[in-house]
Amino acid sequence: MADQAFVTLATNDSYARGAMVLGKSLRNHNTSKKLVALIGPQLSEPCRAVLRRIYDEVRLVDVLDSGDTAHLAMMKRPDLGVTFTKLHCWTLTHYSKCVFMDADTLVLQNIDELFDREELSAAPDPGWPDCFNSGVFVFCPSMETYGKLLQYSTEHGSFDGGDQGVLNGFFGNWATADISKHLPFIYNLSSIAIYTYLPAFKQYGGNAKVVHFLGKTKPWSYTFDPKAKRILGSVEDATSHPTFLLDWWVLYSSAVVPMLQEQYGDQPFHSGCVEFQCTDMVTFESEQGMSSSSDTQALEPLLSSEERKEKWEQGQADYMGMDSFDNIKRKLDTFLK
Ligand code: UDP
Ligand code: GLC
Ligand code: MN
Repeated sequence: MADQAFVTLATNDSYARGAMVLGKSLRNHNTSKKLVALIGPQLSEPCRAVLRRIYDEVRLVDVLDSGDTAHLAMMKRPDLGVTFTKLHCWTLTHYSKCVFMDADTLVLQNIDELFDREELSAAPDPGWPDCFNSGVFVFCPSMETYGKLLQYSTEHGSFDGGDQGVLNGFFGNWATADISKHLPFIYNLSSIAIYTYLPAFKQYGGNAKVVHFLGKTKPWSYTFDPKAKRILGSVEDATSHPTFLLDWWVLYSSAVVPMLQEQYGDQPFHSGCVEFQCTDMVTFESEQGMSSSSDTQALEPLLSSEERKEKWEQGQADYMGMDSFDNIKRKLDTFLK
């Protein structure tokens, strides 16, 4: 339907890469809906051009920032004030109904049936299930609602400093009023759930329709070797178990990187893929008059055990790598034996 759309947001080139992969994943699963990307003025021209090839509409919006450093510090995510920009999605009034999706989500099956739901439908947040997670939600664009949301944020602020706090405040009866507005978790399977409830993930994870790479470390934070189809760095076992991160990288390297290369032309850019990254480094090094030997090791995000522990405590386990289900199981098996 022409008046229904999936909408995402990217205020910088990193999240734009996520948006490119998300758009591609929606297309690959044959959505019949329009695709809209809201972008901030910081986005480079090559990234805008790639987004325009994937999305039906790429719309420049003002970046709204909660500026709420205190609440954002509690989540250890000082960067999330700009997620207030998400509120702009209510201004897309040339659509009657939309589904917002974070740029760090990946579609695994067609999800057009979400348009049968009403505003505001969303899945529970894994950290506090009486709140909905604002990474995937069904909404109806309306200038009236947009105005009320802005007014609400001015008067009440956001309890988490980001959009999720405002939206849960504004749609405050979500937890109790209407169960049909609770999307099944498979429409927003956050990575966190994989290690907080492994047996459930083993049981139901195969039904996932959308995976959400929630948390500080995003797919694009890693380095990928497209030839070996391997994720480098602290992810040592990404091929032998739930392959969401690998799915993301395979799609990104095969479908998005070629488009980026075309747009960047001779300009070096950071693709995150080893072979391209090496070329980038060689270019960079030769500009500096240095040797052209590249050391991909230097690019790997290797963590000390202290840093790893700190990440666990912040809820950012490396669930696809060192802290993967297989590794945890292996460790438990050793203890049990
Ligand atoms: N976002 C963005 N620029 C930023 C931070 C966030 O465009 O600097 C957008 C992007 O769509 C992202 C969403 O806001 O997916 C929410 O942020 P994030 O996914 O990092 O939050 P999390 O899901 O990890 O809590
Ligand atoms: C959450 C959501 C994200 C939102 C952020 C800030 O964890 O996943 O979509 O932007 O909180 O409120
Ligand atoms: Mn997210």
